[in-house]
Amino acid sequence: MRFDESVIREIHARTPIAEYIGQYVPLRKRGNDMVGLCPFHGEKTPSFHVHPDRGFYKCFGCGEGGDVISFARKIENLDFNDAVRMLAGKAGVELQPENPGAARARSEKEAIYEANRVAAEFFARALHGEAGAAARAYCERRGFSAATIETFGLGFAPPGWDALRDALAQAGVDPAIGERAGLLKPSQRGGWYDFYRDRLMVPTYATTGEVIAFGGRALADEEPKYLNTATTPVYTKGRHLFALNVAKRATQKDRTLIVVEGYLDCIALHQAGFENAVAALGTSFTDEQAAELRKYADNVYLCYDGDSAGTAAAFKAIDIATKVLEHAGRSVRIVGLPKGEDPDSYVRAHGHAGFQRLLDEAKPSIEFKLDPQIDRLGGGFDSPSAIARKAEELIRQMTPREEWDRWRVYVAGRLKVNVDDLRNSRFFANGANFVPAYGSAGVSGSRHVAAGAQPHSFEREVLSVVVEDPALAAEYVDRIAPGRFRNEVYRRVYERIVEQAGRLRETGDLYVLFAEDAAGLDVLSDLGRRDRSKTRQYGGADERRALLDRVVERLQLDDDKTRYQELSREIDRLYAAGQPVPDALRGEFDALVGRLKR
Ligand code: UTP
Ligand code: MN
Repeated sequence: MRFDESVIREIHARTPIAEYIGQYVPLRKRGNDMVGLCPFHGEKTPSFHVHPDRGFYKCFGCGEGGDVISFARKIENLDFNDAVRMLAGKAGVELQPENPGAARARSEKEAIYEANRVAAEFFARALHGEAGAAARAYCERRGFSAATIETFGLGFAPPGWDALRDALAQAGVDPAIGERAGLLKPSQRGGWYDFYRDRLMVPTYATTGEVIAFGGRALADEEPKYLNTATTPVYTKGRHLFALNVAKRATQKDRTLIVVEGYLDCIALHQAGFENAVAALGTSFTDEQAAELRKYADNVYLCYDGDSAGTAAAFKAIDIATKVLEHAGRSVRIVGLPKGEDPDSYVRAHGHAGFQRLLDEAKPSIEFKLDPQIDRLGGGFDSPSAIARKAEELIRQMTPREEWDRWRVYVAGRLKVNVDDLRNSRFFANGANFVPAYGSAGVSGSRHVAAGAQPHSFEREVLSVVVEDPALAAEYVDRIAPGRFRNEVYRRVYERIVEQAGRLRETGDLYVLFAEDAAGLDVLSDLGRRDRSKTRQYGGADERRALLDRVVERLQLDDDKTRYQELSREIDRLYAAGQPVPDALRGEFDALVGRLKR
């Protein structure tokens, strides 16, 4: 124990756990407990319990549990000392550190936070002062409002070499601490000079409110464009996200975050009303940043610049996001910006509505990875089978087993091959030694299928399409008869969609239609996992029709085979009995053989 026990007791006494956790997780009362969706793993039904009387929480889904300090540690990514310090600060509890080593480390961190706070205030004042005219003009050119400047604590580092140094000295900050904070550099001649000079200053805050780092943007074309704080005792590059201190509040509504590359992109999005934007801060997106996002968001949009560097960065980020976020049940979508645009330029030109449209059209990460593969076909770079194999590999790596079929449907639709060909090992050469990356999210086979007969492979394909576009159900019902469905629940879902097709305008209506039918709902949510509101999963109407046409062909083929066997038996019987084979029969048989050969 590093703190006096009375400190911990006081924190417990003065921090109502339900209220504290309630700032992060919407909680509902259930009996003596409060329950909500666990912030530490992906879930749709609440298994996260808070016991206000006993002062602890427990998730029955993932097993995470503890007191208010463990919650703060986990959700804010803090070590024990920092969590205690933060909670003590909020609750007005005085700290009495007892261990001199820890006390020294903490007091150095405290001193760095203080140096950063003094520096941020100094920069902010300087922006409004006489020397700040050029920086103010720069802010104006970038379209930043006074409120934005205030919210983000933007500032200006004056030119010259000693403005901040003197300000720190005046505030009683030890220059050695200023150096540890990355604000001052030791000079050859002894003493210190300012690291940031003549730059627009953008502070980064920890989610607990302290200034931990700065980015300094050149006001013109000087290099480097940005000077950033390197690693310090309070800041590790690649671990923090810019603007998360503001964005985390916005996530309480819908647990959604937008990740962009640039500080100023992020600020521009906030100003346009997307207060859930964060920036990855001068590095590529890291595992640690993804893990940080996971605490606050179930839905993450990655928005990279619309150039080849941005696309390459997006691809790298997707791999991390898949591993850290999607495999923990979060959804990740990729926002496509037109070539040459970044989020800042786009939102300035097209406003809130324009950027919202981009968000609405964002592709699931798997689709973003599949599409360039599929496009290779058009470019003549690869054969359908080679592409199908790669696509199948991506599908298996990136999506949970229960989604495999719907993405096969997507790929098959666009490649104009059969879904079975994708699933089939002849396209998937190394299928035998492939270990699905999924599994941690508790994904099992489809529950409802166990309840009825094993469906034909086409049943899910057809449902996937008509769930998105119910009108097609009515159009195809004559050729794809419900009676051909082997699984009862699938058949029932299909039949009802056919019946109601004219009245179903969007996927959401289906949930109303099946509100009373638990097994049907299960099928729907299985098919539509993560994507209830989307309409573009299977490409356009043409691709959807092409897919159903191929199902029709396959069914026709099955019928032909059955009929072929019947006719063969009949003809054999006639021969054996020495009777003539009627012309009509012979004609039908020949036509059938011709079709089957094709
Ligand atoms: P960009 O060059 O795309 O900058 O770098 P930007 O955000 O669009 O900046 P503006 O609009 O020109 O001001 C994206 C991010 O990469 C990091 C910064 O975090 C920047 O926001 N970066 C870029 C650096 O750290 N150093 C640099 O020299 C350049
Ligand atoms: Mn930019």
